[in-house]
Amino acid sequence: MTERIESVRHQLTEQLGRAPSQAELEEVRIRFLARSGLIAGLFDEMRSVPPAEKPAIGKLLNALKADAQRLYDEKKRSLEQSTQARVPSLDLTLPGRPRPLGTKHPLTQTMDEIRGIFASMGFSVAVGPEIESDYYNFGALNFPNDHPARDMQDTFFISKEVLLRTHTSPVQIRTMKRQQPPVREIMPGRVYRNEAISARSLVSFYQIEGLYVDLGVTFSDLKGILVAFARQFYGKDVQYKFRPTFFPFTEPSADMYISCFLCNGQGCRMCKFAGWLEILGSGMVHPHVLQNVGYDAEKYTGFAFGMGIERIASLRYGVDDLRLFYENDVRFLRQF
Ligand code: PHE
Repeated sequence: MTERIESVRHQLTEQLGRAPSQAELEEVRIRFLARSGLIAGLFDEMRSVPPAEKPAIGKLLNALKADAQRLYDEKKRSLEQSTQARVPSLDLTLPGRPRPLGTKHPLTQTMDEIRGIFASMGFSVAVGPEIESDYYNFGALNFPNDHPARDMQDTFFISKEVLLRTHTSPVQIRTMKRQQPPVREIMPGRVYRNEAISARSLVSFYQIEGLYVDLGVTFSDLKGILVAFARQFYGKDVQYKFRPTFFPFTEPSADMYISCFLCNGQGCRMCKFAGWLEILGSGMVHPHVLQNVGYDAEKYTGFAFGMGIERIASLRYGVDDLRLFYENDVRFLRQF
């Protein structure tokens, strides 16, 4: 019996020593450790061992069983560890993590596109402060003191002399004071008006101003540039018209309209059944303004224009409530 125990121990160490695979290790377990395995068989044979030898043989057998279990466990553990080490922790078959891409805000897109069109016609970009003096916002632009024209734009005053600019036109003054003609600039920026917020008006919005001053600039240049812009922005077949209007800082002044691109001039909700959409204000720079910046008004002429970005963008995308541009609802923003 002792020999048989030793022989089983010998076989076991030999088989485990042969670096078994996982399947082979399982075979070893079945062969030695399972309920009907060799070691269990030896325990069955204990019945026929003479009582005097039982304690000694029993001790041997118990030691064999414990050793076998321990050896098997060790092998199993080391086998598991080595397979783990071989399998890379990086699973290349997993789907990638989506990285949602943001987009430019529709107002920024509109602004960029307009800037691009004017850049291609030789206009560079100038900016000015949003907090302005009464002089730059009104006085230098030929709004007489206490003149009702100031009521055209409801103003947020910070003090009697300081205000939030109501339009980008003060940047015209700053630009011209900084340099001599030729001046060919566009001036994008935020402006403020003290108005009740509604679908059609906001207290703060964006404008792009344009200014071109040089020798011999005429109203034909104004039309040429603005029509070229409208054709690039709205398509080459766009219909347009200019209608006389009034601004203190331009003379003559004209609003530019394009045919409603939704209804093709037939009349719809978007164009309030007029068939035409007003897209900007413009005019020849008033000689007083040229004089205010120290230009020789006998020598130089120029034109200026200004448009509201929200208006341009809302007309283009058919957005009927300007407040949507500022709510930052991604369901709205994702559409652009
Ligand atoms: N500043 C004018 C406005 O805000 C627009 C304008 C700019 C008109 C330049 C003519 C020339 O309404």
